[in-house]
Amino acid sequence: MTDLNKKTPAPAAAGSDGSGSEPLLKVDGLVKHFPITKGVLKRKVGAVQAVDGLTFDVRPGETLGVVGESGCGKSTMGRLVTRLLEPTGGKVEFQGRDITHMSAGRLRPMRRDIQMIFQDPYGSLNPRHTVGGIVGTPFRLQGVKPEGGVKAEVQRLLELVGLNPEHYNRYPHEFSGGQRQRIGIARALALKPKLVVADEPVSALDVSIQAQVVNLLDDLQEELGLTYMIIAHDLSVIRHVSDRIAVMYLGKIVELADRKSLYEAPMHPYTNALMSAVPVPDPRRRGAKSERILLKGDVPSPISPPSGCRFHTRCWKATQICKTTEPPLLQLKTGHQVACHHPENGEDQAPGDAPLVADVITVKSAGTAEPASASEAGKASEPAAASEAGKASEPAAASEGPEKSSGPAPDSDGKGASAPSTGAEDKAKE
Ligand SMILES: Nc1ncnc2c1ncn2[C@@H]1O[C@H](COP(=O)(O)OP(=O)(O)OP(=O)(O)O)[C@@H](O)[C@H]1O
Ligand code: SF4
Ligand SMILES: [Mg+2]
Repeated sequence: MTDLNKKTPAPAAAGSDGSGSEPLLKVDGLVKHFPITKGVLKRKVGAVQAVDGLTFDVRPGETLGVVGESGCGKSTMGRLVTRLLEPTGGKVEFQGRDITHMSAGRLRPMRRDIQMIFQDPYGSLNPRHTVGGIVGTPFRLQGVKPEGGVKAEVQRLLELVGLNPEHYNRYPHEFSGGQRQRIGIARALALKPKLVVADEPVSALDVSIQAQVVNLLDDLQEELGLTYMIIAHDLSVIRHVSDRIAVMYLGKIVELADRKSLYEAPMHPYTNALMSAVPVPDPRRRGAKSERILLKGDVPSPISPPSGCRFHTRCWKATQICKTTEPPLLQLKTGHQVACHHPENGEDQAPGDAPLVADVITVKSAGTAEPASASEAGKASEPAAASEAGKASEPAAASEGPEKSSGPAPDSDGKGASAPSTGAEDKAKE
């Protein structure tokens, strides 16, 4: 039985926070604002600030997990780094080459090296094409002639992802969700990419199938030496697959750290709230007491995000400076970056500042609900407060003291919620 947790340690530190090999992907101040237009003249009246100044590296051979509530800009970020979207600002470098505004023609050869796996295994496969046609498309688009021919190579890929090569001529509707996602994975791997960006690769699948696809991605990484960026709102999935994790909130990275530090000592209050909402997978630990924080409201609108720290409208630790001054993403511990004036498990960056009493929408008892994902953590809240926080960048709600409840402790040994299964079981079940 395969352990869902990462079996291999993260590769040597590199990039912005350490020494070591050159990053495969380097992102600096990445911005994407979608214009909002009005009237026949399409006058610009505003912008959705979907991604607003992301800086991070992805190192060869690692898995960078990206987590955050719905609408925080995860998919936009994935589409920007794969250059399916044109950035509004910032810089994207792949293997030392600036690809930020590279033309489609010049990007073409790079497309072999950067591939994307999409969330929807139904919508992302053309229903009129056979599996052989779908997985063989990248060869035709790139004019690549594999040794032994396209058909033999496609059948090898199908076998690699745990599908029957005999099903080459079948259509997508003849496969289950998990099998379709395997087809999408085979297509992404066809040209032996260096970087695979997987946007919610398992969230459309049954929980039992999720573990199988996660294990497949893990095995393929080891076998093919892949580098992954895996986007998910589910903290359990992110925990299993990632070497390092970036936590996003409203278009920004608020915390970036290796998996162990992030789960053992999260520094950003938002990360802490997300963590506290993860259910306990180990029945022996269910009785253990821990503090649980349930955020009120949805993520505020990215059209007019809150001033200063974007989390200040929901943060129980907010002070005056949080409302006026945006905290930079700083490395406050080795390999652990956080954007917060008053981090947890770390030195206060603005001691003595007056609390933001009147503006804070604060935490609420988690009750008996056990949300398992970032989006659930954000949504499981009181409706009245939710709409206030969701619509207004400066909510006028009065403060409540932080209410914390005792509940099951998130397990500290990194074991997962869903039972992993072997590849053989995967195939049998599907
Ligand atoms: N093409 C677009 N035009 C205008 N706004 C967009 C576009 N694509 C995304 N957005 C907006 O940008 C913000 C971020 O969207 P994005 O899809 O990146 O979020 P996400 O974190 O992937 O959310 P989810 O978890 O629901 O997939 C959202 O407010 C969304 O409405
Ligand atoms: S900067 Fe202030 S508002 Fe933002 S997370 Fe830190 S304490 Fe909370
Ligand atoms: Mg998305």
